[in-house]
Amino acid sequence: MKIVIFGGSGGIGSALVEKVAEVFPQASVSATWHRSAPPADSAAHWSRVDLRSEDSIRQYSTRFEQVHWIINASGLLHVDKQMPEKSLQQLEPEFFMRNVQLNALSTLLIAKHFRHVLKKTETSEVTSHFATVSARVGSIEDNRLGGWYSYRCSKAALNMAIKNISIEWQRTLPQVCVTALHPGTTDTALSEPFQRNVPDGRLFTPEKVADCFVTLMLQLTAKETGRFLTYDGDLIPW
Ligand SMILES: NC(=O)c1ccc[n+]([C@@H]2O[C@H](COP(=O)([O-])OP(=O)(O)OC[C@H]3O[C@@H](n4cnc5c(N)ncnc54)[C@H](OP(=O)(O)O)[C@@H]3O)[C@@H](O)[C@H]2O)c1
Repeated sequence: MKIVIFGGSGGIGSALVEKVAEVFPQASVSATWHRSAPPADSAAHWSRVDLRSEDSIRQYSTRFEQVHWIINASGLLHVDKQMPEKSLQQLEPEFFMRNVQLNALSTLLIAKHFRHVLKKTETSEVTSHFATVSARVGSIEDNRLGGWYSYRCSKAALNMAIKNISIEWQRTLPQVCVTALHPGTTDTALSEPFQRNVPDGRLFTPEKVADCFVTLMLQLTAKETGRFLTYDGDLIPW
């Protein structure tokens, strides 16, 4: 079995790398990083990939013959000097485009260039997965608070990308389950500036979230493709 975790150097990504290695000790686990070098003692095969670059993703894809599980755990909410917008007046086109590029376009490009290696799992006994870590705030129907324009719009675009891929692959890669996953607020660098108002018991460790995601993916079959799910398997409206 072959597993690839994009954004394996992140809070949720690094816990996923550990978790899949524990659950599938015979599997070959590959993971990507961009700016945060991976731990030296990791058993995964690490590569530096810039998910903003189609060329970087395409080149990385050429290293694989067959992949059973792909999880994209990369993402962006804030950068050094820029926090998510509280109002429309704070919207900056460049920041908006950075969000869209990393939070939405990267998943489309991974799907485009890894389609052929997922295709090769047609006769495999395990369900193949293409999952991406989205966020509940990308749900249009669930939006009650507003704000966070760039992040919300980019995750809404990601959700549409996942739904679209799932429809196309139901015809052409019917053995693959395509899913958008919401982790809940998780204690990582991404959520760190926003953790103060999280109710007691609602700030999850990355290890808990990785455990939930892998447990969920083990239960899902290709018939359940095209869903937006919380870490514990509840459906979120698109
Ligand atoms: N934490 C939460 O509460 C929460 C809640 C809802 C949804 N999410 C979603 O969960 C996912 C993971 O978030 P996290 O909390 O684990 O964030 P994180 O710790 O900040 O990790 C972000 C990951 O994205 C990678 N990345 C950033 N820019 C990249 C680029 N240009 N090319 C390749 N990789 C790049 C980072 O790699 P380097 O560090 O190596 O550059 C890192 O691996 C994101 O999609 C986020 O939106 C998180």
